[in-house]
Amino acid sequence: MAKITLRQLLDDAAERGYGVPAFNINNMEQGLAIMEAADTVDAPVIIQASRGARSYAGDIMLSKMVDALVEMFPHIPLCLHQDHGNDEATCATAIQHGFTSVMMDGSLHPDGKTVSDYGYNIDITRRVAEMAHWIGASVEGELGVLGSLEHGSGEKEDGHGAEGTLGHDLLLTDPDQAIDFVRATGVDALAIAMGTSHGAYKFTRKPDGEILAMRVVEEIHRRLPTTHLVMHGSSSVPQPLQDMFNVFGGEMPQTWGVPVEEIVRGIKHGVRKVNIDTDCRLAMTAAFRKVALQSKSEFDPRKFLKPAMDALRELCRERFEQFGTAGNASRLKPITLADMARRYRSGALDPKIEHITQAA
Ligand code: G3H
Ligand code: 13P
Ligand code: ZN
Repeated sequence: MAKITLRQLLDDAAERGYGVPAFNINNMEQGLAIMEAADTVDAPVIIQASRGARSYAGDIMLSKMVDALVEMFPHIPLCLHQDHGNDEATCATAIQHGFTSVMMDGSLHPDGKTVSDYGYNIDITRRVAEMAHWIGASVEGELGVLGSLEHGSGEKEDGHGAEGTLGHDLLLTDPDQAIDFVRATGVDALAIAMGTSHGAYKFTRKPDGEILAMRVVEEIHRRLPTTHLVMHGSSSVPQPLQDMFNVFGGEMPQTWGVPVEEIVRGIKHGVRKVNIDTDCRLAMTAAFRKVALQSKSEFDPRKFLKPAMDALRELCRERFEQFGTAGNASRLKPITLADMARRYRSGALDPKIEHITQAA
């Protein structure tokens, strides 16, 4: 089966009311574990690579590895997505290397840390959407800035994340602005800010509506019912994984992530793509720690990597089931990029927001 675009996959998810986890990868073991999990439950897949992943593995390695995954799992539709593209060149070169979807994160300047203004975000996102749509690839934009409502700052992931302390005006996406942004840019999916942040340290307590503003998701979905919403920073940082990491010599202070039930609530209100990286890292690294501590003479990396892949496979399978992604792979017949490009040109995929009213 060919790769699938984000747009086709999320259109299907919206029609049937499910969400799709987007798992970050950097290496073969992560790719295999995700695909094996998807295979077990017949789930379509979004694999995403950050700029950090692209420089870690190299574009050729990443794209050929994903081609291998497509060949090995021909019945599983796979969308390869650029996570947090910082400028036009990052997005264009991703498509050149076989990505079927890109995120243009214009909420920050290309340095990945300076908060941009609204005009800048619209301009760069619209330019990338025009370019990608000529080819048939999909585009995710971001409006609002990821960061904690508790302390007003973002968590830097490998150089990406807002610097300084931000106010709630930036940390919570404005629903009226969201309508204008989608109309002006033509994005296929919209990442919104509601109090999640990247990394393990999202909340200092189990989140309630004060610090995880799911009401913002609901309000945006009410105003933009046909726009596919994206939740970033959506690792749950499960307690058993934190405990395992610490029992085997790790030092992770107690922390809270995004509860799965809140994500499921989001999926009922238009969230179609759910970004998860930290949980995958934690699952694998906790398993490494266990082997390192229990088998001190072990020096074969495979003896570390196999249990790590088992742990990641189990995590991914759980999320595919919890988000309703399971059972949807075999039904999907990927539309080619050329055909998607024709549909964009005809206007058939334009945002459907003419009838939408602004705030009462
Ligand atoms: O954007 C957040 C992801 O967790 C990617 O992290 O840039 O360290 O690969 P990374
Ligand atoms: P986590 O750090 O919560 O896994 O978020 C990942 C993410 O949003 C990647 O874009
Ligand atoms: Zn993110």
